[in-house]
Amino acid sequence: MVTLEYLVQYAKQTGFIFQGSEIYGGLANTWDYGPLGVNLKKNIKEAWTKKFLRQGPNIVGLDSSILLNPMVWQASGHLQGFSDPLIENRQSNQRYRADKLILAHDPTQKPDGWTYEEMYDYIMKHQIKDPVSKTHDWLPIRKFNMMFKTFQGVIEDTASEVYLRPETAQGIFINFKNIQRATRKKVPFGVAQIGKSFRNEITPGNFIFRTREFEQMELEFFCKPGTELEWFDFWLNYMQSFLTNLGIKKEYLRAEPHAKEALSHYSNATTDIEFKYPWGFDELWGLASRTSFDLTQHMNLSKEDLTYLDPETNERYVPYVVEPAVGVERLALVFLFNGLEEETLEGGDSRQLLKIHPALAPYKAAILPLVKKEHGEKANLIYEMLAESFDVVYDETQNIGKRYRRQDAIGTPFCITVDHQTMTDETVTIRHRDSMLQERMAIKDLESFIRNSVKF
Ligand code: GAP
Repeated sequence: MVTLEYLVQYAKQTGFIFQGSEIYGGLANTWDYGPLGVNLKKNIKEAWTKKFLRQGPNIVGLDSSILLNPMVWQASGHLQGFSDPLIENRQSNQRYRADKLILAHDPTQKPDGWTYEEMYDYIMKHQIKDPVSKTHDWLPIRKFNMMFKTFQGVIEDTASEVYLRPETAQGIFINFKNIQRATRKKVPFGVAQIGKSFRNEITPGNFIFRTREFEQMELEFFCKPGTELEWFDFWLNYMQSFLTNLGIKKEYLRAEPHAKEALSHYSNATTDIEFKYPWGFDELWGLASRTSFDLTQHMNLSKEDLTYLDPETNERYVPYVVEPAVGVERLALVFLFNGLEEETLEGGDSRQLLKIHPALAPYKAAILPLVKKEHGEKANLIYEMLAESFDVVYDETQNIGKRYRRQDAIGTPFCITVDHQTMTDETVTIRHRDSMLQERMAIKDLESFIRNSVKF
């Protein structure tokens, strides 16, 4: 696997990801998605939408607001509890997450389940040093709420205080009744949503792994109490198949169940799917069985009846929820790490290659006229035909070998070359990215060929 530094450099050069506000010296840990990054993110969202919404078991969609009534965050517990243990060094004034400091010191520890006092004692006992001041002069650990606060309306007073959502999930819970009534869905059913979330992370970093602004793809699956653990297993399998069908190597994945002591108070099972990043296994995708916690909290605070009447048994209950939740950028990072390599070729040559499933590739095909003057017009016609259905790219600069290499590096699965023969028999050569093999294909078959290749 390539290093993090290599990937950052690659992402910038190729146009996947740029540093945010770069011409002003940047804004810490913000990233802008360039021409290829936009396509990659779009394709990831489309793949998720296809599998989790369209082909999932009884799932519908939602697009709720980023700004919600602050009562939502009171009910969900985010106002009181959505915090990280912040520890500050007296000498450098640097701030860190106490649990992360402990893990950096000893990755075998499990500070997730510890109290703040236990974390502080551990840090002092092991004399863990601040990497900046090299001292262990620590202030006591404080709770740091990670929600971004802003103001709605023109007067900046507490009455107009609102928060940017730290997760998309709550928008789904507060619309449970609306959706159920409007669609007349019977439990079990699910609601899928993609949207931006914001968290004032103390230690963002590792490129786009942890940022303060990110996009989530969350599914809240409502089921009958008592069936949640079966659904939990179903969704864990579903998530794993999604990743491996899209080409993530099995050895890069593992499922890590949270220990009973580390579970949130509302959860009776949580498992993270982890990916093997260059810095080791770390979270990719969370799966949580959230019981009826959220709906019950909202019901108590809003006084709205959020129970469900089972039409077959006449039983009334608050549904349980199983939630697979993942970040779009987190997945983008994983697909880049999984696929990017420097491949040594026969004869000692090497090429940069992004092995990414055609469904996710920023461009499905590159259309290349062998000789611009003679084949440019025909190549353009093919480009226009394919652009009706796919993201494709046209390239007529430099020799054909260099053009192939450029496409290999950005993951374009097929290079379609228009040559002399095309002008007489309406066929082109199609070159496969991974094998570099070429075959002759009729122009009229290109569309269905590409359509088949993007299936997963
Ligand atoms: N509604 C549940 C929830 O939000 P989470 O584990 O806090 O659960 C779900 O977040 C997923 O969102 C994570 O597994 C990760 O993929 C992504 N995510 C969370 N915080 C992130 C951050 N600061 N930057 C990028 N992605 C993040």
